[in-house]
Amino acid sequence: MPALRIEGYVIVSADGMLADARHIMPDALKFESDQAFFSAALDRSDLIVHGRNSFEDQPNSPRRVRVILTRTVSAVAPDPKNPKATLWNPHGASFEQACHFAGVSLGTVAIIGGPGVFAMFMDRYDTFWLSQAPRVRLPGGQGCFPGVPDRTPQQILASHGLKAGERVMLDAAEDVSVIPWRRETAYTSP
Ligand SMILES: NC(=O)c1ccc[n+]([C@@H]2O[C@H](COP(=O)([O-])OP(=O)(O)OC[C@H]3O[C@@H](n4cnc5c(N)ncnc54)[C@H](OP(=O)(O)O)[C@@H]3O)[C@@H](O)[C@H]2O)c1
Repeated sequence: MPALRIEGYVIVSADGMLADARHIMPDALKFESDQAFFSAALDRSDLIVHGRNSFEDQPNSPRRVRVILTRTVSAVAPDPKNPKATLWNPHGASFEQACHFAGVSLGTVAIIGGPGVFAMFMDRYDTFWLSQAPRVRLPGGQGCFPGVPDRTPQQILASHGLKAGERVMLDAAEDVSVIPWRRETAYTSP
């Protein structure tokens, strides 16, 4: 069993976007029920990983241990602005080295974006939690993964060996739900 369990989280519009054309997550994609689901999941996680622009900005954020991808460092370094954060450039250090620097060697890692960061872990997710807001459309927006909208997020997850589980309704009035996409065979390092 790998020591680190890798889980991904995103909410997307009907057209598979995680942000609008300005690469900003609009309020239209923020739902109390999904935010509560996301926040509870991050509270249970041992480590959060995200690109510099995907900070989740929640009340519990200061308590969370995190790794932030950035090219402003050459490998790994402490974040001078946040004692619980490690800055990581994958060009200079492996994911395992970044986790080690952050003090996490086992438990659950939550990958929370943006698109390039999601893509880096595509073959490693144990579960990817895909929340969907089918009444929101963001034409010309930023796809949740590289390759969207030419392919749907679901096609991309399936092409990396993940299978859709049972839909969980989060907000019936807005038709917002989340589907866990699970891997049946665990990742083994090459
Ligand atoms: N709907 C959702 O659930 C959801 C989820 C996540 C994000 N979002 C939104 O989507 C947007 C994503 O923003 P974004 O496209 O700018 O993505 P991002 O990954 O959050 O930030 C990009 C920055 O992260 C760093 N980075 C990313 N990949 C890297 C790599 N391989 N190596 C080194 N550094 C790397 C770089 O920082 P430096 O410039 O410092 O080098 C890069 O400029 C935001 O508006 C966010 O709020 C929405």
